[in-house]
Amino acid sequence: MSLSDCKFVWKNGQVVPWEQATVHVSSHGLHYGTGVFEGMRCYKTSSGPAVFRLTEHLDRWLASAAVYGMKLPYSRQQLAQATLQIIAANGFEGCYIRPIAFYGSDGLSVHPRNCPVEVMIFAWPWGAYLGGDALEHGIRATVSPWKKFQSDAIPATAKACGQYLNSVLAVQDAIARGYDEAILLDSAGCVTEGSGENLFFVKGGRLCTNDERSSVLMGITRDAVLRLAREMGIAVSIQQLTLADVQQADEAFFTGTAVEVTPVASIDDHPIGAGKRGPVTAMLQRAFFDVTGGTNPQYANWLTPVPVAKNDERLVSQGASL
Ligand SMILES: Cc1ncc(COP(=O)(O)O)c(C=O)c1O
Repeated sequence: MSLSDCKFVWKNGQVVPWEQATVHVSSHGLHYGTGVFEGMRCYKTSSGPAVFRLTEHLDRWLASAAVYGMKLPYSRQQLAQATLQIIAANGFEGCYIRPIAFYGSDGLSVHPRNCPVEVMIFAWPWGAYLGGDALEHGIRATVSPWKKFQSDAIPATAKACGQYLNSVLAVQDAIARGYDEAILLDSAGCVTEGSGENLFFVKGGRLCTNDERSSVLMGITRDAVLRLAREMGIAVSIQQLTLADVQQADEAFFTGTAVEVTPVASIDDHPIGAGKRGPVTAMLQRAFFDVTGGTNPQYANWLTPVPVAKNDERLVSQGASL
């Protein structure tokens, strides 16, 4: 399954065929990275497809837009409907969803001035981000030679397109050196996060991660895992993370919409703990997938069901908006 499985894209208020979801070469966002985006997942549950924490993702999207003075010409409610509509139009049961808003074409001064705000949402089935084995056996991480940008240069809590150049450099370097993922330090040498994930470690039964003071994106998966951990009676610390803390931990794992809860087996070839998925990670992973799979009724409000259109209804609604 790949991007090409996406047949319909929500583009500026309309459902259009994949081929028509194009942007102009003079778009401000293309030149200067002036876009904001989200990554969400829709999970297959026994009562149909459901989007995990849709409201929180839309809120973060709108908050990211506000940082860059970008006014989306749609309400949160309209964006929620559009998200559900594009999943239903493509007939997906489980998928990754990518909403993006960016400054379009009206001149290329650095200030986006009168550039229109373009909004698109598309989705495609995307399996385990770091490979099928990663969730069970963990991944091999490396400390990046590239430092994480700090929030006094670009706010890390907003999810903006241009800032991912930092992640691209880090992950390209990691892959070129034979690792699966990069861990970025800040300029003081403290751990920030992965190229697209938050980092946790477990030591003596205590779960530790950092927060926005360490220039990280405040992950929605991070928040879910913290809440599940507290409810399970696991002690939690939110603190600055040193590299030594993580290297000497009993367990470490990444969280993120793409990676879900993925164990970190080693860093620069030094095993973390036993060098495989640890018991606390396994427990939290199970709890997380119980929630996303819809089998934990306590968190049913974290799942927004996708109204599945009957085939003929689907065609009619697509025809109407094309
Ligand atoms: C840099 C970065 N950190 C952390 C995360 C995890 O955030 P979330 O759990 O909301 O997907 C992501 C993914 O969106 C990311 O790109």
